[in-house]
Amino acid sequence: MNFLESRFVKEVSEITDNMYHQGWDERNGGNISYMIDEEYVREYFPKDVFVRDIPLGFTADEVLRGKYFLVTGTGKYFKNIIKNPEANLGLVKISDNGQVAHLLWGYKDGGKFTSEFPAHLMSHAVRFKANPNNRIIMHTHPTYTICMGACLPADEVIFTRKLWKSNTEAVVVFPEGVGVLPCMVCGTTEIGEATANKMKDHRLVTWTNHGIYGAGNDIDEAFGLIETVEKTAQIYMLTLGHVVNEIPDEVIIGLAKLWNLKMMPGVIEEK
Ligand code: 13P
Ligand code: ZN
Repeated sequence: MNFLESRFVKEVSEITDNMYHQGWDERNGGNISYMIDEEYVREYFPKDVFVRDIPLGFTADEVLRGKYFLVTGTGKYFKNIIKNPEANLGLVKISDNGQVAHLLWGYKDGGKFTSEFPAHLMSHAVRFKANPNNRIIMHTHPTYTICMGACLPADEVIFTRKLWKSNTEAVVVFPEGVGVLPCMVCGTTEIGEATANKMKDHRLVTWTNHGIYGAGNDIDEAFGLIETVEKTAQIYMLTLGHVVNEIPDEVIIGLAKLWNLKMMPGVIEEK
């Protein structure tokens, strides 16, 4: 079977096209990595034959060694993936020593994985340990989320509270809250480590003045988390300075009780 026809390539091509049309992924903005179980890889590649090796530039966590990832390429445009997946995506296997990505498929024009692969792989390791069903790390540049981060202190309790107080869906979709990083140099192992550290407690992490990361068992979960933050940030920004009806704390507590959710501590005072 041809990997180009696989559901994995189809899913990533369709969601990146969707995200481009949301206006979130200008130029080469955004990146996605999709951990694919070996049994599915074998349907397309009966044995490992590597096209070339690409150094990672850091050492991947032990839980990721021998694992396969479908990853967007660095410098590639989300808008182009659906037209030419083989040039814009790559399928890699993490080497036994965690230092190399063996390329099985893709990056056809000599490219390589996203510059944010440290943040992706470090986040995968943390999320996988928290939840062995996690498969997706998704990064994008949603406009209103970036605006909201610029208007608030880089503080996850404040950011989460403003989201929960703006849209009744927010606490239901992300009761564990949103992790927030200050503005940092991106594409580094340092921002990767900082992101992964927040991913211990959150499936969502914002990068102030840059964008957001979402994690999920599948593309729908990661995308759904991010689109709920972005929709809520849009509500927040459009009403900024005009709010008369902010969601009362009692309603947020009531929603959490109704859905049996464990809320991020310190955001809403339980009376
Ligand atoms: P890449 O083109 O390397 O994926 O980088 C895009 C981006 O969003 C940087 O944060
Ligand atoms: Zn980015």
